[in-house]
Amino acid sequence: MINIAIDGPSGAGKSTISRLIAEKLGFIYADTGALYRAAALAWTRSGGGELSDKNFSALAMPPITLAFVDGVQHVLLGGEDISGEIRSPEISQLASRLSVLPSVREFLLGAQRKIAEENNVIMDGRDIGSVVLPAAEIKIFLTASPGDRARRRFDELCARGVKTDYETVLREINERDGRDSGRAVAPLRPASGAEIIDTTGNSLEKSVSVLEKFIRERLAAL
Ligand code: DC
Repeated sequence: MINIAIDGPSGAGKSTISRLIAEKLGFIYADTGALYRAAALAWTRSGGGELSDKNFSALAMPPITLAFVDGVQHVLLGGEDISGEIRSPEISQLASRLSVLPSVREFLLGAQRKIAEENNVIMDGRDIGSVVLPAAEIKIFLTASPGDRARRRFDELCARGVKTDYETVLREINERDGRDSGRAVAPLRPASGAEIIDTTGNSLEKSVSVLEKFIRERLAAL
């Protein structure tokens, strides 16, 4: 199976770009952030409490799985499709805080590796090239300036009818970046061998075409 790892900070365009390219290549697209979001939702539903490895281990976590229907990813928590519910700003922050815990990362590792073993996949996240799939055939670190990323996230949230403002989104992006990059376990940083691609100022079409070209060249050389 061919594995393509795409890591980078939130709002760099990873999911939109990966989904479009996966479709063109006939690969599946796996968004691993959704697994951390599902764990965050399960945590909230269980009544929350202090975030710690001990509390997480004690939680009878329902199984979290990614299902692919016609190439579209659905996130299941104990069999319930929670794909829509995990996209709120509150779950974004909680997923980032929860993802600092080694027990959470360990819990989700097997599911990610299994998808990559069974499918030609473009998998996006924060530690895919470094920890989850260190032997991935192609590794990309996709980034953009904080201002650009906040603008894209703000537009996305507005389109979904979430009430917020640009300054709040920028502050939350900076908070998440700091936490995701500063944590001790599997911090967000380019994996060894990753191609760093900066999408600042690009239209979506431009970013897709840059990544598609790079990926096709690398695939042809395999
Ligand atoms: O990609 P996203 O915004 O949906 O991810 C939500 C949070 O999950 C993100 O702030 C950090 C965490 N995450 C992670 O630690 N490792 C991954 N592979 C994917 C996401």
